[in-house]
Amino acid sequence: MVGSDPKNEVPFAVHTPDRIPVQRYFDPDFYELEKKHLWPRAWQMACRLEEIPKEGDYAVYRNLDVSVIVIRMADGTVRAYQNHCRHRGVELVQQRGKAKGGFICPFHGWRWDMSGNNTFVFAPEAFSQGNMCSAELDLVPVRVETWINCAFINMDDNALPLRETLGEFGERMEGFKAEHLRAEWWLAARLPVNWKLAMEAFMEGYHVATTHPQLMPPGITNKPGASSHIRLPDDVVTQTFWVTVGNDLPGEVDAVEFVQMYCDVMQALSDGMAGMSSPEEVEVARSLVGMDLPGDPGEAAVAYRVALNNAIMKYYADNGMECGDINDLDRRNLATNVNFLFPHFFMLPVHGAAASYRIRPTGPEECIFELWSLKRYPKGKEPPSPPIPEPKAFDDPSWPAVPRQDFSNLPRQQRGLHSPGFEYMRLSDQMEGLISNFHRTLDGFLSGVPVEDLAEAMRVTSGAIDVEVRNLGL
Ligand code: FES
Ligand SMILES: [Fe+2]
Repeated sequence: MVGSDPKNEVPFAVHTPDRIPVQRYFDPDFYELEKKHLWPRAWQMACRLEEIPKEGDYAVYRNLDVSVIVIRMADGTVRAYQNHCRHRGVELVQQRGKAKGGFICPFHGWRWDMSGNNTFVFAPEAFSQGNMCSAELDLVPVRVETWINCAFINMDDNALPLRETLGEFGERMEGFKAEHLRAEWWLAARLPVNWKLAMEAFMEGYHVATTHPQLMPPGITNKPGASSHIRLPDDVVTQTFWVTVGNDLPGEVDAVEFVQMYCDVMQALSDGMAGMSSPEEVEVARSLVGMDLPGDPGEAAVAYRVALNNAIMKYYADNGMECGDINDLDRRNLATNVNFLFPHFFMLPVHGAAASYRIRPTGPEECIFELWSLKRYPKGKEPPSPPIPEPKAFDDPSWPAVPRQDFSNLPRQQRGLHSPGFEYMRLSDQMEGLISNFHRTLDGFLSGVPVEDLAEAMRVTSGAIDVEVRNLGL
């Protein structure tokens, strides 16, 4: 740990980086520690900005005991307030809506303007002077920053600016022009598992071969450095986690078959996620079937990848949309398909489209898992925000195939964690390192490490999945 200040003793702390004690996933006291030391100090994705496009539009973000109003101001900026009446605590608004000029408490009619200033108290003469000053009456502001078309809130007034904690996640999303994405749909699942367990199902590609065999073409594995990675000119190795093609393609795969296979996997992903890889992009990919490619499967993979990126960029440009230079992202090794932002947010870009996840705890062994499919739209043709989803059961038959596969493992895993002989998870320190990096950063929060000393750990943890156990500077 940094510095010599005495720190809180964290029960069930991660002492061996590749071993995660199981109590962290169900112990009620551990859950309370997270409530006390993590959530009040962490940046949290509170809403997508298409939810609040116009002046006065607000959305409520709720996590554990905290409810926050995020509101669009007349000048286009976004502000946030704690969602409670300062008289007797009633939540002022629910879900989302339009604040026509401000907020009115439904109980006794106190009012506030959009800047949070109290503008009306019924019969103020009936209250003591001490309760009628603006410090007692105005809404309590909450830190908020907007980035990649999302509002992020932090309950800690001393938190570092969001951008100082983003790490490679930030560079990836900016290169990818994630701010141009809009939600095509938004769904939520109620999962009977600890929130961290739910997230960790998406922190490694090691499970893909077994859990999602349809995304793994025959003969391909996804070991590190092998077929989940593709070597580009100049010896840059980029990770193509979902669409597992690469230099160790079976020798018998010829170039035409290879392109066909790539398109089929893209299609399986698009169908299986009902988004994430957009049908328009699949069509662009198919239009390249038959293109001239080198005979060597590895070289063919590279040539196809570059040509496909170019064709996708052209598709977006021709249709009045922007997706960033995705070949440049490849060259900078920033085109990873699954990216984690500490503590509970994911972005999953595939070429120009993406999926996004947010996970919130609702108890030591239950959570809400939200999914968005994100696409690009020509300016002025963006769809309105999808409705706020009612969480569905994890095994609801309407889930697209890929999340259904992921969700199906989770309740079994949560039960297995309670097995008396299972004391800790045994992680791959090469492929499942993100899980360890995440837990050790969490321990930094729980032990009370000051935010400035946690910034490096957050930056190291936020970014690609499938990484090794890393030094967090803690
Ligand atoms: S509780 Fe809000 S006005 Fe009384
Ligand atoms: Fe999965």
